[in-house]
Amino acid sequence: MKYIIDLKDESNWLFPTKGYNPDGSVSEDQRTIVLPEGMDRRYCFTDSVMHKSPDPGPYVKMHEHHQGYETFFVESSSMYFYINGKKTLVEAGKIIHMQPYQAHSFIFNGDVQFRGTFHDWNCVDDSVATNALEEHFPDAKKDPEFFRLLCSNIDLHMRGIADCEEVPPEQVSAVKDPKHPMAAFAIDGAVLKMITARWENGGKKEIWLAEMEPGFCAKWDDYPVTQDLFYVQSGKVKFNIYGEDYTAGSGCLVKIPKYAPRSFEVLEDTAMYDLGGITRWYALVADFAALKKYEPEQATKEAFDEMRKKYGCQVKEYGKK
Ligand SMILES: [Fe+2]
Repeated sequence: MKYIIDLKDESNWLFPTKGYNPDGSVSEDQRTIVLPEGMDRRYCFTDSVMHKSPDPGPYVKMHEHHQGYETFFVESSSMYFYINGKKTLVEAGKIIHMQPYQAHSFIFNGDVQFRGTFHDWNCVDDSVATNALEEHFPDAKKDPEFFRLLCSNIDLHMRGIADCEEVPPEQVSAVKDPKHPMAAFAIDGAVLKMITARWENGGKKEIWLAEMEPGFCAKWDDYPVTQDLFYVQSGKVKFNIYGEDYTAGSGCLVKIPKYAPRSFEVLEDTAMYDLGGITRWYALVADFAALKKYEPEQATKEAFDEMRKKYGCQVKEYGKK
């Protein structure tokens, strides 16, 4: 099993497929990296290059989903993001998060590296199928009739055209700025930042960024009952999985199956996202930080252990070594 997935390594690009503009030019080069797994179809990860969009004129066509949640890391260039009647400029380094029934559209200002993670959504099933279809009918996706079929099949609902007022990104709650997270907590050797909250994901998950210093370590229970999916955006982390060392650098996913014993040590300043998000991190870190502040004598290792079990956290030890 492959635990470290380098997003730049083409051998990790599964089911590559393209999207097209109405004029037939290529709008997107999409690669699936991790297929969805589990009850809520979580852990899914795609890595696309979205090409510069044609000038849309005064309005855009919107679409919405009725089940699926999409989160995208905007990793290069910039884009206009249209959502719920607003338009805003999103630059590299920001993250966008869309919930069901939020009508949205994008206009890309250049080639945008656009890395996505999803849950409760079946879009990737069609990447697998259209990758096969295009081997036989390379132009199938340029056919408007086929595109209509594809939309009706993947919880993608076209809305009408929209007139969107331009506002700064701070006025759009779907734009997430890791420099100004909804919540942040400093622990020994790391800052934990909440990027998407559980209440923005139908209660299913939350996405956290850990900004960690060299020497920060974490160790899990002996048989963790959930798998993990981490995105190392920058830095270097040495993971130990089933007793073997694996180093994840900038632009790598770390995918660890359930039951596998795991730990890590940070080697360089690192920004790493927890994409699985099953642990109720916000409840855990907020409750424990408040206990430490207001009832410090109660904030013992035993109290932490009790709390982490209550909120589904399988990290048993953490801190600078
Ligand atoms: Fe969408």
